[in-house]
Amino acid sequence: MKRLIPQVMLFTFIFHLTGCSQEKVIKLPQPQTSGGMPLMEALMKRGTSREFSSKELDLQTLSNLLWAANGINRPEDGLKTAPSAVNWQEIDVYVSLLKGVYIYNALENQLELYMKDDIREATGRQPFVKDAPVNLIYVADFTRMGDRDETTKHWYSAADAAFIAQNVYLFCASENLAAVIRGAVEKEELKKVMNLPAHKHVVLCQSVGYHPE
Ligand SMILES: Cc1cc2nc3c(=O)[nH]c(=O)nc-3n(C[C@H](O)[C@H](O)[C@H](O)COP(=O)(O)O)c2cc1C
Repeated sequence: MKRLIPQVMLFTFIFHLTGCSQEKVIKLPQPQTSGGMPLMEALMKRGTSREFSSKELDLQTLSNLLWAANGINRPEDGLKTAPSAVNWQEIDVYVSLLKGVYIYNALENQLELYMKDDIREATGRQPFVKDAPVNLIYVADFTRMGDRDETTKHWYSAADAAFIAQNVYLFCASENLAAVIRGAVEKEELKKVMNLPAHKHVVLCQSVGYHPE
């Protein structure tokens, strides 16, 4: 048994070195759902910024951001901060960070590892996307949208993603964060990079981070 201990320690060391230690689930702190800037002031300040500090967002800010984006605000009915057509809730928020891509699970208030790679650069055509600490990828799951035709599903999911994006813009205004919603995305390329199944579609991406110092 004693002889095994150094081997276990060596294994743990290599495991960490090779980056296999990524947390499969990141439990988010409870979102702070009160306070912030008065709405009318946030509307005055809402705007697009395309320059980012590479500093990562702390977990509390990330939790607040994701709750504002598409968190559950009426738990008794499972309803969310952003509306969705027919309450399909077909948009999933994928969170692309330096340490990988996570899916925001609003019900459990946690991030679930989707892939370990840093794919931020693939989330847009503009150079700043690789520096922004957070790139949100809005992905529509068409299987949640009943038997509507594809065109209808595309435009409903675009509208639903845009509501989430505006929530993010207003949160960022309130917290003095930089944000830009982006349609200039190689969506089919990104879908391949993310290995998404045919029924899931990248709708829009949104970069978020601190303003440069
Ligand atoms: C649907 C949509 C797609 C957009 N796509 C991009 C984009 O790919 N890249 C970008 O830098 N800005 C993009 N923008 C941001 C607009 O350029 C920006 O909102 C506009 O210039 C007005 O500026 P404001 O947001 O500060 O009011 C997009 C905005 C919307 C609504």
